[in-house]
Amino acid sequence: TEETLVLVKPDGVARGLTGAILARIEAKGYSLVDLKLVEPSRDLLARHYAEHEGKPFYEPLLEFMLSGPVVAIRVAGNRVIEGFRSLAGTTDPTTAAPGTIRGDLGRDWGVAVQQNLVHGSDSPESAERELAIWFA
Ligand code: GTP
Ligand code: MG
Repeated sequence: TEETLVLVKPDGVARGLTGAILARIEAKGYSLVDLKLVEPSRDLLARHYAEHEGKPFYEPLLEFMLSGPVVAIRVAGNRVIEGFRSLAGTTDPTTAAPGTIRGDLGRDWGVAVQQNLVHGSDSPESAERELAIWFA
């Protein structure tokens, strides 16, 4: 069976949506293997988002991710990486499909960074790398 890293980002935790997001993951049939509330360091976030270093949204993204606690979850199931990305919806919550986490629960709040509630690893290599960072 496969594993992925899911994060409930600071906007999701602050809005009290952690339970609703966990419920969707469980209702889909995936297993919660490990879970914790984390206040990540800048160093941890820089490692997590290394692929985005130098992009215009990189600094606002790190500031946003430092703005409050995050829930980190190790989720397991066959094809869970692909399956959770599908459940999360596309990056921009304004246009993410209804039925998805971002599409149903997210919107544009008029701030520079996209506050889109969740993160999910995008490949087996990313999942292995990110799980090692968040669940060292
Ligand atoms: P994650 O699951 O969080 O990795 O989202 P993603 O895979 O859908 O997006 P990506 O990895 O490309 O970008 C990471 C995060 O940076 C996104 O979730 C957004 O919060 C933010 N982001 C990505 N692209 C943009 C952009 O063009 N503008 C802004 N403002 N933020 C962006
Ligand atoms: Mg990504």
